[in-house]
Amino acid sequence: MALAFPRNGVSADAIGDELAIMRTEDSPWDSFNDRWLNDRGLLVDDGVLDVTRRAHAAFFTKGNGHAAVLSMQADLVDMVKDLLNGPDANGVITSCGTESLFLATRTALDWKRRHGPGLDEPELVMPATGYPAFEKFAPVLGYRVRRIPTDHGFRADVAAIEAALNDQTFLIVASVPPWAHGVCDPVGDLAGLARARGVWLHVDACVGAFVAPFVKRLGRPVPAFDFSVPGVSSISGDFHKFGYAPKGVSAVLWSSPELSDGLGFAFSNWAAGLYRSGVLTGTRSGGAIAGAWAAMRYLGEDGFTERTKAILNAKDKLVAAIDRNRHLELYGEPELATLSFGGRTIDIFAVHEALRDRGWPLLRCQDPDGIQVVLGPFREHVIDQLATDLDAATELVRRTGRRRRGNAVVYADEVVD
Ligand SMILES: Cc1ncc(COP(=O)(O)O)c(C=O)c1O
Repeated sequence: MALAFPRNGVSADAIGDELAIMRTEDSPWDSFNDRWLNDRGLLVDDGVLDVTRRAHAAFFTKGNGHAAVLSMQADLVDMVKDLLNGPDANGVITSCGTESLFLATRTALDWKRRHGPGLDEPELVMPATGYPAFEKFAPVLGYRVRRIPTDHGFRADVAAIEAALNDQTFLIVASVPPWAHGVCDPVGDLAGLARARGVWLHVDACVGAFVAPFVKRLGRPVPAFDFSVPGVSSISGDFHKFGYAPKGVSAVLWSSPELSDGLGFAFSNWAAGLYRSGVLTGTRSGGAIAGAWAAMRYLGEDGFTERTKAILNAKDKLVAAIDRNRHLELYGEPELATLSFGGRTIDIFAVHEALRDRGWPLLRCQDPDGIQVVLGPFREHVIDQLATDLDAATELVRRTGRRRRGNAVVYADEVVD
């Protein structure tokens, strides 16, 4: 039954109690969101949660136009420029990865219109593993998405991408990494291709921007993906994922300012006067931006490197557990902090359900069916327990021949019917 608009207010305590109950109700689909900034004791506690919470509380009544919040946004852009080797880059802070991708796509389209031959039916070309936001706003910007199958290791197939390019291609997208399998696309090869064909390359590092540089620092292999790679035109990175910031903060950067020409909106023929903005959204929470700023300052390179070390430790343990289990198969060679695996001899969705029954809020992927894991800097005993429970769940399914109870694979379902 629909709830009426409240007739009378209720006490702060009653609301507190209600909220406390609601917080413990995990949505089966978004439980991974908790992995980045987690207050349930699963992650290494190095104080970042407390620091960001305080920063958030100090600025949650302010908007993005507040002077200090504007200056924090400028600081965040500068920090990411430095992290991603883009001394000549410029950028903006947005509300989410999707908005960052929108702005990158829009500027790529504008750029092609300014520099290329006539664009009648613009096309965006990307590996099949790319993020669905590009389809989400294709009707708004007026282009078509061509998804190209990856190679068997779930990486972009560069030759197939090349074959898909034509004079209507305005954008190639590479992901570092794509969501489902965590296997980074070969940015260097795609950037070479983009350069040779005069096409914009966007690197969607929404998930990996704050992991990959530190994986590299720790001496592990990771493809070069930042502005040091000639041919990379723009990069997106989300603070609210592996930047350990509160929800609602992302960045998009362009290798040089002329690429984002025309992005800024300015209008003054209006009763309230000038309105100038460089992003799509209007008011955003100053709390989230302050939280991101505080997280960067608090962790610094050392803090990020330590957290990344913990993530890689978790990954090594989980990969070892998958590798030694002859019923399971790791998908590709994931370099960063997400991975997925399937069943060689057993129904992997039945294993997924058995793990959920044990309280593990893991996700699924499809084509092929698999379990997806978003790793965090877990405490040692958490990852050990996951590895143990994975063995037990696999054994249970093998012994009983259990089949899946359901087929649904859902990344997000935010529409209330
Ligand atoms: C590869 C990739 N790009 C972009 C996004 C979009 O991020 P957001 O949910 O902040 O819009 C995601 C989200 O999971 C993602 O995995």
